[in-house]
Amino acid sequence: MARSLDIILFLLCLAVLTPTLNANPLEKNEYWEEHVPEFDSYWQERAKVAKEANQAAYFVDPYAVSGNFTATVSEIIAAKSARRSLRGNNNGTCMATNPIDRCWRCDPNWANNRQKLADCVQGFGRNTRGGKGGPFYVVTDPSDNELLDPKPGTLRHAVTRNGPLWITFARSMVITLQQELIMSSDKTIDGRGVEVYIANGAGITVQFVKNIIIHGIKIYNIKVKEGGMIRDSESHYGFRTKSDGDGISIFGASNVWIDHVSMRNCTDGLIDAIMGSTAITISNGHFTDHNEVMLFGASDDYSDDKIMQITLAFNHFGKRLVQRMPRARFGFVHVVNNDYTHWEMYAMGGSQNPTIISEGNRFIGPDNVMVGGNQLNLKEVTKREYTDESVWKNWQWRSINDEFLNGAYFIQSGPELKNRPFSKKDMITAKPGSYVGRLTRYSGNLQCRVGKPC
Ligand SMILES: *[C@@H]1O[C@H](CO)[C@@H](O)[C@H](O)[C@H]1NC(C)=O
Ligand SMILES: *[C@@H]1O[C@H](CO)[C@@H](O)[C@H](O)[C@H]1NC(C)=O
Ligand SMILES: *[C@@H]1O[C@H](CO)[C@@H](O)[C@H](O)[C@H]1NC(C)=O
Repeated sequence: MARSLDIILFLLCLAVLTPTLNANPLEKNEYWEEHVPEFDSYWQERAKVAKEANQAAYFVDPYAVSGNFTATVSEIIAAKSARRSLRGNNNGTCMATNPIDRCWRCDPNWANNRQKLADCVQGFGRNTRGGKGGPFYVVTDPSDNELLDPKPGTLRHAVTRNGPLWITFARSMVITLQQELIMSSDKTIDGRGVEVYIANGAGITVQFVKNIIIHGIKIYNIKVKEGGMIRDSESHYGFRTKSDGDGISIFGASNVWIDHVSMRNCTDGLIDAIMGSTAITISNGHFTDHNEVMLFGASDDYSDDKIMQITLAFNHFGKRLVQRMPRARFGFVHVVNNDYTHWEMYAMGGSQNPTIISEGNRFIGPDNVMVGGNQLNLKEVTKREYTDESVWKNWQWRSINDEFLNGAYFIQSGPELKNRPFSKKDMITAKPGSYVGRLTRYSGNLQCRVGKPC
């Protein structure tokens, strides 16, 4: 009972203390009040198990992980610059332009070796194996009409099975989820070879689970859904209140890798990671048409988010994005070799002393806009929310080898990263500018064809 008391106390504490200044529903009191009934004993048990897994997934020395990652990127860039004349894959040459892609993309036999993908993740999510070692499950039916007893062959049936599963799709399909898709642990959703769209309905929920890979799908126009009774595993279903309208909601989960997804226009965040989620890599994504892009940590009062460690790598933050790429609280975010080509307010921000290490990214500032006869300059990459400079000056937000175009600038704070426990060579990171364009060139959902390099 102590446990359920903990959760209820936590929710009440959020409800009392969380300021209501932000538009994200997760940051509002009412959201947490409404969700209290969901925490039945089943979810409380799942929360407890997940919390232990999240603690185990946490890297005590995050610099070691980000350092290793940076080193691999550097090696590949060195190799590429030696062969700079290679241009695209116009003549059928496969160009895997970053270390994650290079691990699998150019193998013409990738479709017979799909689970190899699980060996390719880097960064904080690097121990994610998804459904590796488990059987394949082929989704044949795009419908989503049975929330309690999902029809075999549907995506909802696949993700609620017990044990590891590697989920693929028999053909291209648009899946409109009637309610949030609640995944169970040890699953890979692998959209390679066909076009899989999760669109015009609810989004994907990764709650109190571990070991999830989501790869090669498009997610867009995700809406808030009313909730109801929904199956979340073979052995349990329960009542869910309104979903958030996130594309992907990571909630108290660990070892999550999201790779080569294209996402746009969801009601809430494109990807939110909250409630002590950790060991996450989001790579090779292409994001467009959205206001609040990524929220890492929803509450200024939830210091358990200190264990949050997230790598953002080789993503393209593209057209018509406004803010929060990401907005972080408490945790450690390594933002490496991403292309920020558009924002309307700011690119990265946060509160509550998150660590943001920005390395080898390209930031292209927005043009000034005229508002009421005044020029509005929004070229600052960074934003500290509701905090006095005397406080945030100690937050470690560092920019290393980033490239700034069109007037973009990054206000650094906190200590430099000079005392890293690895060699200077590890720190020779991705070169800026043209390299980022190349590293992120194939971001988003790939058009892979079976029997050809991807
Ligand atoms: C970094 O790489 C070295 C050797 O390549 C390895 O021994 C070490 O365990 C790695 N560190 C982490 C945190 O993965
Ligand atoms: C494609 O072009 C590259 C660079 O010009 C060349 O090295 C490679 O051999 C070509 N591949 C084929 C299959 O023609
Ligand atoms: C965004 O998604 C909503 C549904 O949630 C849809 O009504 C709207 O037309 C979409 N907007 C764009 C620009 O696609």
